[in-house]
Formats: sequence, structure tokens, C-alpha cells
Amino acid sequence: MSDPKDILTRMYKTDNSELVLPKEETERKDVEDILQSNIFNVMLNRRSQRRFEPKEVEDHKIELILAAADTAPTAGGFQGFEIFHIKNNEIKSELVKAANNQPYVNAPLVLVFCKNPSRVKLNFPEEILRKFSLQDATLAAAYAQLASHALGLSSIWIGMIDENMVMKILNTDLIPSSILCIGYPKKILQPKPKRSLKDLIHRV
Ligand SMILES: Cc1cc2nc3c(=O)[nH]c(=O)nc-3n(C[C@H](O)[C@H](O)[C@H](O)COP(=O)(O)O)c2cc1C
Repeated sequence: MSDPKDILTRMYKTDNSELVLPKEETERKDVEDILQSNIFNVMLNRRSQRRFEPKEVEDHKIELILAAADTAPTAGGFQGFEIFHIKNNEIKSELVKAANNQPYVNAPLVLVFCKNPSRVKLNFPEEILRKFSLQDATLAAAYAQLASHALGLSSIWIGMIDENMVMKILNTDLIPSSILCIGYPKKILQPKPKRSLKDLIHRV
């Protein structure tokens, strides 16, 4: 098993001075413990949350969430997606409107995942490259969602968005795929029951 400190260095890519490492020893210890968390526990206990405490998400947790998104597989390894980290409160309010007025989009941490098919340098039809970039952006958001849960945060995935409005708000040509809204939960919710595997799996 790798040393948690190695994982920390890889997650934070310490050669990149823009990233924020946990400053305090206690924060570092906290993160090292979190990095040992069992992925099955994280997956099984995650539950969507639409009510957040007004508490800010700490910078080192934000960096871990972004680093986790960056570990997702992507088509050809070309990383055909971009993440907009929304720090401006006015932009958050605008995004609420672009998301059919879903008020929880105004969360402490808001990440918009966009497709970037121009990064996918594969010799396939445009349509396939668009599909790949949607899958890249979706997987990255899913990894960020699981990482958020592992860090003691909760989240809601927002797919009901007006793409054109979001593009205008962010002043980008990139088409958004989802918004991930993250924060400390007001109340811990139990995971939702799912279909039985017997119904879900079609063995052929
Ligand atoms: C593709 C997709 C789109 C979604 N869009 C929205 C949305 O616009 N608004 C919302 O409140 N929840 C949205 N959700 C969250 C789902 O409602 C939620 O994941 C689902 O009810 C299952 O609950 P769970 O995440 O707690 O298992 C979306 C989830 C996915 C995967």
C-alpha cells in the first residue's frame, strides 16, 4: 500500500505552486486519514443534499476535490473537459436562474463542468468527439462528487440547466454538462434505496 504522504503529493502535484496544501499539521493529518477512506463506504453512503450550512469549504478540501476530478479517466487521456470554479456570488445567483431557479445552486462551493471536444485529438467524427467530451466531463464531476463525500461534504448534481444561459454567464464557448454544488450538509441524510441488482443487471 502506498504511503499516504505519497498520495498527498501526487494529489496536490506539489510542483504546481498554485495549489494549496493543507497548512496546519492537524489539517494534513485529517487529509491523510481521509485518503485512507474506503471507496465502497464512500459510494454506499453518498446521498444528494440540497440544504447546506453557510460554512465555507476549506481551500485544501477544494483542492482535493479538483485533484480528484483530474484523476478521472478521459477518452484517449486528452482530458476533454474544463472546470469553472465559481467564486463570485453574483455569478452563483445568475447560475441559479440558468438552473431553472433551483436555489441550492447558490452553494458554498459551485463547480461547472464543461465539455471541451477540441482537446480530444482523436481521428474520429466530430459527433464521437462531442460524446467523448461529455463522458469526460461527466466522469470528472462524478469523481469530484465522490471525493466531496469522502471529505465530509455533501453535494447535488445539477443537470437541469439552460446551456446557453450558463455559457453566457461564464463568457465561454464551452458547453456545460453539469453543475456540482457542494457544501457542509444541514442534516446527514441516509442513502436512497436503489433497484435490486437482480433487476438492474442483464446477463446475456
Ligand atoms: C444527470 C443528473 C441530473 C440531475 N439533475 C438534477 C437537477 O437538476 N436538480 C436536482 O435537484 N437534482 C438533480 N440530480 C440529482 C438526482 O436527483 C439524485 O442524484 C437522485 O435523486 C438520486 O439521489 P442520490 O444522489 O441521493 O442517490 C441529477 C442527477 C443526475 C445524475
